Amino acid sequence: MIAQDTVQQILETAKIEDVVGDYVNLKRRGVNMIGLCPFHNEKTPSFTVSPTKNIFKCFGCGKGGNPVQFLMEHENCSFPEALRTLAAKYGIKIEEKELTPEERKKQQHKDSLYIVNEYAQKFYANQLFNTPLGKSIGRGYFKERGYNDAIIEKFGLGYAPEGKDAFTQTAVQKGYSIELLRSLGLTTKYDSDFFRGRVMFTIHNLSGKPIAFAGRILQKNVKAPKYINSPETEIYVKNKVLYGAYFAKQAIRKQDECILVEGYTDVISLHQAGLENVVASSGTSLTVGQIQLIKRYTPNIKILYDGDPAGIKAALRGLDLVLEQDMNVRVVLLPEGEDPDSQVKKLGSTAFEEYITEHAQDFILFKTNLLIEEAANDPIKKAGLVKDIVASIAKVPDPIKRAFYVKECANLMDLEESILISEANRVVAGNVKRANIKRNRPQERPASPLRPETGEAAPTTSPSKPQKKQNSTGDEFQEKDIIRIIITAGDVVFDEEEDISVAEYVLSNIEDVLDNFDNALYQEVAKEAFQRLVNKQRLDLNYFLMHDNPKIKQLALNVTTSPYDYSPGWDKKEIYLRSQKMPELNFTDDSVQSLMRFKYRKLIRMCEDNQKRLKEIKDPDEMMTLLQVQQQLIDMRNTLAAEFKTVVIK
Ligand code: CTP
Ligand code: MN
Repeated sequence: MIAQDTVQQILETAKIEDVVGDYVNLKRRGVNMIGLCPFHNEKTPSFTVSPTKNIFKCFGCGKGGNPVQFLMEHENCSFPEALRTLAAKYGIKIEEKELTPEERKKQQHKDSLYIVNEYAQKFYANQLFNTPLGKSIGRGYFKERGYNDAIIEKFGLGYAPEGKDAFTQTAVQKGYSIELLRSLGLTTKYDSDFFRGRVMFTIHNLSGKPIAFAGRILQKNVKAPKYINSPETEIYVKNKVLYGAYFAKQAIRKQDECILVEGYTDVISLHQAGLENVVASSGTSLTVGQIQLIKRYTPNIKILYDGDPAGIKAALRGLDLVLEQDMNVRVVLLPEGEDPDSQVKKLGSTAFEEYITEHAQDFILFKTNLLIEEAANDPIKKAGLVKDIVASIAKVPDPIKRAFYVKECANLMDLEESILISEANRVVAGNVKRANIKRNRPQERPASPLRPETGEAAPTTSPSKPQKKQNSTGDEFQEKDIIRIIITAGDVVFDEEEDISVAEYVLSNIEDVLDNFDNALYQEVAKEAFQRLVNKQRLDLNYFLMHDNPKIKQLALNVTTSPYDYSPGWDKKEIYLRSQKMPELNFTDDSVQSLMRFKYRKLIRMCEDNQKRLKEIKDPDEMMTLLQVQQQLIDMRNTLAAEFKTVVIK
């Protein structure tokens, strides 16, 4: 464990603009810096970095925090891993704290497994580069495949010599324990080498540590398997590992897409060709664990298949699993007889990229087309086909997407949409029912109906019944902003003619969502302020600064002493021009903008709630109604977004 002093030192040293700047192109904007958010897809920057506060904050997706949190989020790493990365960056020496004896034993065992694997990796690499046989056989083989030295080194490729126990002998002589060698599968129980006369591929975990090996045979037409692999160990859990993930994760996030191939050599060849968002499932069908790993970086996955009949079959198999995880799946069939490795060599990287872009097909539509061809004019087959397609569609958790597929597939199959809808609803209902029985959880509150005249959300307020607080969904920031305005400028005149104050303007606009706050304290302030307005009582900064409730007092202090914390990303230029006045003096704009952001978040929330609700219902009619509500909410959200000139993708 890292000692608390070291943690403190790292927290004090790490600069948010340095850390974020390693990944995001930041531009100065007043005291802050802005850039495109690395956590969601956006074309207009709403990602803000505040060097003075040493924090980042995205107004689009709501993510924010300090440098350590940024790294944890961005690299999908643990707290200690982020600390270690920062310590390395700033040259801070890490003091370790004592572990409990068990913790220490477990950690030491794991560490020693990594250390032994690191040694093995170096051994195989040394064989490849520095021994006559390694050079002629191993390196010759990789050269023939077109791998350059840089890529060989990057991926930790190597050569395992022919001899019975050349590796084991050397390792033991160097002091590596035979038990560890055995438990990693490098040495057999007869103390001979497991990998012999093979070229070696190192499998890394997400931090780049070697966790396993694969050895490829060199002779052709022999009975032995083409690849042999390390067994599972504490550090190598096969169904949670994707080959190449360490080298690909950055690019996957950046391009917001993961390309999935089958083989080690496909990954390496594509990386060498400059396509770095590529990982391999290593020949097996995808597991949920692997999909979830990809999902940490992107929801978009493009699967490349060899264009033989087996490849096509593989394309259909197992993919419902990916759909269930709410991933957007596209498939690319390569020409018959080619795999990604051979195809990229044939076409070169540019033409290869063009090829996969052009030939990528939505998985469900691809499947539908394929099955249609198969069924041709056979009505019995066609009935089976509908069932098959519907089963896939029903796996899609997002009702909007589902509705889209229903429409498209009905079209493709030349069926009445309604038939497919009711069929899909039946299956979805079945799925939901099963899931409900499993979870046995109570029905959720129905989504708020819409007020038809205004298109505004109708009040969901029910004063007698306290609302169950949901986990924060990132609304708190907007809530705080609203509260900040009420506290700091509640008594400022908003509109002279109408004779209303800022607090009156803001609160009357959020009356309908006063019960939907994430943060209990902010809610308390908003409600109290509202009540005071109704009672025509005084409402100004001093009232809050001298509040009876110490928490509210502190909050008032905080929002006053951190003026305009995160200067809004929306509508930047105008604000900037005007904020030559101090932002605090610009209450009118300030409150309008905050209000819009606040409402926007609440609309997003209502969309989400509605979506949740959609997943629970069984009645097809109700489902269609909710789908329409959903569409309306999305439209409102988009209108609002357009108003503050933000691009909303989806
Ligand atoms: N695989 C395996 N064991 C085998 C065969 C295949 O583990 N006996 C896995 C490997 O991860 C391999 C992937 O399945 O990378 C795809 O197999 P294949 O297409 O046969 O291998 P390639 O990676 O294309 O290897 P090469 O190009 O060298 O033939
Ligand atoms: Mn191949």
